[in-house]
Amino acid sequence: MENVQKRILITGGAGFIGSHVVRLFVETYPDYQVYNLDSLTYAGNLENLRDIENKENYHFLKEDINDANAINSLFKECKFDSVIHLAAESHVDRSITDPLVFVKTNIIGTLNLLNAAKEQWKGDFENKIFYHISTDEVYGTLGEEGLFTEDTSYDPNSPYSASKAGSDHFVRAYGETYGLPYIISNCSNNYGPNQFPEKLIPLFINNIIDKENLPVYGDGKYTRDWLYVVDHAIAIDLAFHKGENKATYNIGGFNEWQNIDLIQLLCRLMDKKLGRTEGESAKLISFVRDRPGHDKRYAIDASKINKELGWSPSVTFEEGLEKTIDWYLANKDWLTNVTSGKYQEYYNKQYK
Ligand code: NAD
Ligand code: TYD
Repeated sequence: MENVQKRILITGGAGFIGSHVVRLFVETYPDYQVYNLDSLTYAGNLENLRDIENKENYHFLKEDINDANAINSLFKECKFDSVIHLAAESHVDRSITDPLVFVKTNIIGTLNLLNAAKEQWKGDFENKIFYHISTDEVYGTLGEEGLFTEDTSYDPNSPYSASKAGSDHFVRAYGETYGLPYIISNCSNNYGPNQFPEKLIPLFINNIIDKENLPVYGDGKYTRDWLYVVDHAIAIDLAFHKGENKATYNIGGFNEWQNIDLIQLLCRLMDKKLGRTEGESAKLISFVRDRPGHDKRYAIDASKINKELGWSPSVTFEEGLEKTIDWYLANKDWLTNVTSGKYQEYYNKQYK
């Protein structure tokens, strides 16, 4: 289906992946009106979009997806004809200490958007699409062998992945029950510019800069499949425009790393970039108490999106990691602002 949507609601566009998706759509499709809806939690940051915020086809809506009335009103007012839904609570460790906020935003918030879309589109689903962005974590954990395919059963282990699995099920159920057209994609771990320094790679880059300890959970022999965030955004663009109704796509980097090997590589690259002696950053590695319910291994079989839509990652891990480090080193103010909560001041100055 070659979609012809012109008024796209992108939720969570001030966050890490969302900001890259918003930028890609605003720049690639000047005829589309792109509405970025975000409540600006700690993870949302309008600085991520400074370069495109004055474009005519970009609009920012500060709203909470948990507020059903506000979401319904916006659908009536703005007449969105498609949704790309990224807004979520996204960090596993936070979901362990406060699961309820994950249920609220990831499940109820998604339900609010589904209801608003269903009501607004009222059975006229021609050229409408609800594209839900999900994660490979819904599949649970792999052993030494095998890959997650689109047919792998859901088996979530953390409150985060359980809440994402719940939202995926509701999207699918709205498709089956009400005929709402949808696409779901499940992606592996992303990395790149603008990622909040609570996730492994930006947290460790920040700590290496500050010569703080690098807290490795357990024995560090956990495996993740890493994808450069811009390649995820490109995959979303392709699936949005070319994906069939009810399609699901796994998106991954074909790029598995044990945490400890990745951390060693990161330390070596950072030593070079910072002009430190080789081995200096690795001395900061410190093994700490493991994460409860820690999934051993994630790895995606991305052959469906590769064969059907012609997508594959455009950068190698070494290239992507170097670009990422360079971005954080060139944007130390960004890091300082998000870690000190200063970006709220930016927001108030800009919009209040
Ligand atoms: P993020 O935490 O960086 O950003 C989330 C954004 O959602 C923030 O801008 C935040 O302000 C906004 N938000 C949160 N709660 C909201 C609410 N109630 N109302 C409106 N806005 C709200 O997350 P991310 O890493 O960019 O992930 C984006 C999406 O992609 C999520 O759905 C996540 O589950 C999924 N995903 C992430 C990864 C990854 O590696 N980061 C991998 C696969 C899938
Ligand atoms: P993370 O970036 O939180 O992503 P996810 O848990 O969604 O995969 O963590 C990536 C891996 O790094 C995961 O195995 C947990 C581990 N990790 C640490 O060892 N130390 C840390 O401080 C963090 C944040 C993660």
